[in-house]
Amino acid sequence: MHRQPTIIAFCCNWCSYAAADLAGSSRMKYPPNIRIIRVMCSGMMHPELVLDALNQGADGVMILGCHLGECHYIDGNRKALARSEVISELLEDFGYEQERFGIFWVSSAEPERFVELVTDMVEKVKELREA
Ligand code: FES
Repeated sequence: MHRQPTIIAFCCNWCSYAAADLAGSSRMKYPPNIRIIRVMCSGMMHPELVLDALNQGADGVMILGCHLGECHYIDGNRKALARSEVISELLEDFGYEQERFGIFWVSSAEPERFVELVTDMVEKVKELREA
């Protein structure tokens, strides 16, 4: 039997982490193989952090931040979005499939969206293994 994929989800403190927390306290079900790391803002995510996570054995990495226009540090999520292009290039250079990374926006009031996104990510990464 295959080991379950490990997905690292870097969640910004103000929105997506709050959504993850609400999903947990509301007892919503989502895959147990998501490892949440709280960061203050998605704009803090250096592309190398994503690559390091994959190189150290994560099967997929997500960056989740506030919706565009709602970043608590004004434009951190726009910076994160711009950096995601660099991340795509790094993935290609290092031979990782693009599906192993995703950047998404989730507000603190959207625990269902959080659950849907992490569930989709797990499924996508599982499919890669079966392809
Ligand atoms: S504070 Fe949430 S993305 Fe910047």
